Amino acid sequence: MCGIVGYIGAKQAAPILLDGLDKLEYRGYDSAGMAVYDGKKIQFAKARGRLKILRELTHDGAKLPGCLGIGHTRWATHGVPSNTNAHPHFNEAETIAVVHNGIIENYARLKKMLVGKGYRFVSETDTEVVAHLLDYYYEGDPMDAICKAMQRMEGSYALGIIFMDHPGRLYAVRKDSPLIAGKAEDGCLIASDVPAILKYTRDVYFLQNEEIVCMEAGQINFFNIDKDPIEKTATTIEWDVSAAEKAGYEHFMLKEIYEQPKAVLDTLNPRIRNGKIEIEELGMTDEEIRAIHKIYMVACGSAYHTAVTAKYVFEGLARIPVETDLASEFRYRDPILDEGTLLIVVSQSGETADTLAALREAKQRGVRVLGIVNVVGSSIAREADNVMYTWAGPEIAVATTKAYSTQLVAEYLLAMKFAEARGTVTQQEIDDMLLDLRRLPQQIELLLDHKEKLQRFANRYVAARDVFFIGRGIDYAISLEGSLKLKEISYIHSEAYAAGELKHGTISLIEEGTLVAAVVTQKDLYKKTISNMVEVKTRGAFLLAVTNEGNTEVEKAADYVVYIPETNKYFTNSLAVIPLQIFSYYVALGKGCDVDKPRNLAKSVTVE
Ligand code: M6R
Repeated sequence: MCGIVGYIGAKQAAPILLDGLDKLEYRGYDSAGMAVYDGKKIQFAKARGRLKILRELTHDGAKLPGCLGIGHTRWATHGVPSNTNAHPHFNEAETIAVVHNGIIENYARLKKMLVGKGYRFVSETDTEVVAHLLDYYYEGDPMDAICKAMQRMEGSYALGIIFMDHPGRLYAVRKDSPLIAGKAEDGCLIASDVPAILKYTRDVYFLQNEEIVCMEAGQINFFNIDKDPIEKTATTIEWDVSAAEKAGYEHFMLKEIYEQPKAVLDTLNPRIRNGKIEIEELGMTDEEIRAIHKIYMVACGSAYHTAVTAKYVFEGLARIPVETDLASEFRYRDPILDEGTLLIVVSQSGETADTLAALREAKQRGVRVLGIVNVVGSSIAREADNVMYTWAGPEIAVATTKAYSTQLVAEYLLAMKFAEARGTVTQQEIDDMLLDLRRLPQQIELLLDHKEKLQRFANRYVAARDVFFIGRGIDYAISLEGSLKLKEISYIHSEAYAAGELKHGTISLIEEGTLVAAVVTQKDLYKKTISNMVEVKTRGAFLLAVTNEGNTEVEKAADYVVYIPETNKYFTNSLAVIPLQIFSYYVALGKGCDVDKPRNLAKSVTVE
């Protein structure tokens, strides 16, 4: 989604803004712009397309002098991607400049009111309403205008604001869209996400809903919507700026695929102590765990796919019913949430609007919420009753890989903890599973060593039109992720099907040469899935199989087999997904797609 950067200080703002926007590129965008106060007026530049166009237009920022500025990458919601719709937006006199992430849901009503009062609009965006609304309320005191505008706006917003009359101040506010602030040596910064300002400071303030920040004379002051000053403490970001850079890899996605062994290890290690599972952050005694009779797992996209896997693991190990839901469905379907229900929300960014809304819905109804989150200090991390962090580090590629893998292992640990507390597994079983968990990082490394073979195979499919992924049980959950990975970055149509469901319609889509990827890791289901593979093969499909070492049976039906090392049946996803990620990466690369920033997609979906 949109990215915001702002700077006020002793240095020229524009190069800092461009640098910050660079770091936010991963969020997805279709246009970019900046506004800088040059000592006399607010100058600006906007361009549809990639950031490099804005760089060229401004000669890397040199054409926009001044030490106070705001910058933006826009992911279009209201109005097509165009120069006019790109941010910043202004009041008519161009004395107030605004950049915005989010959606002003009542913008049509506000626009009507403002048009009635003589305001003229030039763009199709909801953001322009904010600029005019600020102008409408502005009588010399920016804080006053901001607070009044906030009372009128509905929806989600993170805003960076400049008032030409107050060139020594940079304002920003947030409601339901992420925003951070930080103080560097030569100035103060705001941004949508940490990588944008990490080069300048490690101490970051996370703004809460309806908080306002005013930066002036090297000071950062925070206020609530009633203009009362508030105290905030900075969080020190532990990871290094290099963690958000490519480190010699061609793409972030490839780098992140390779970071999986470490990410998995980092997520497991602090929670396995002296051969025992210790999840302190769960904040629940064994008795409290036993009082839970139902779990909802709610998430979006790949995070949801890990929840589908977790359902099998929780139910299999802990014998507790788990319902999985897409967050966008859960929030509107009036789910049955009673005492004894636990909601687990899973999110890399911790900012996904639907997942956050699901969390709020559950909390409002008195249900305990556990967040499995990657981004420290994110909205979900702050609002959940308890947070279990995945330690994947910053994930930049839009297509998730390492965060997905860490979510899986966090969920395995949780399921094992529940199983232990509920007495549904023996100590021996736990010990064996812990051994298998500890082996995962090394086994992932082994699979990564075979990437060339998969690259050659992938090169044969760059022209594919449709690809199907099939599997049963956990293998179906893996198929969901394999399919999403392929389609989101290569733009090849692909679908995942529970293998047993093929005959109910999908099989009619199989033609001579159609690639079907079968995931076959569940021993008790081998035979069943192999029969489904034979069914599609006899209709002309080309079969790729991902299966356990030793399952040579599969070769009867498969044309190409990738073997994964032996592990516990509940953990196979962590291994089987690796070849599928590599396959997708190389298909997309072969097609010349923008692997890290696929079209139309955003890394963090902060609007509904
Ligand atoms: O940040 P979140 O984990 O909440 O994001 C959820 C989905 O938007 C995300 O997993 C998306 O599906 C990925 N692009 C998939 O690679």
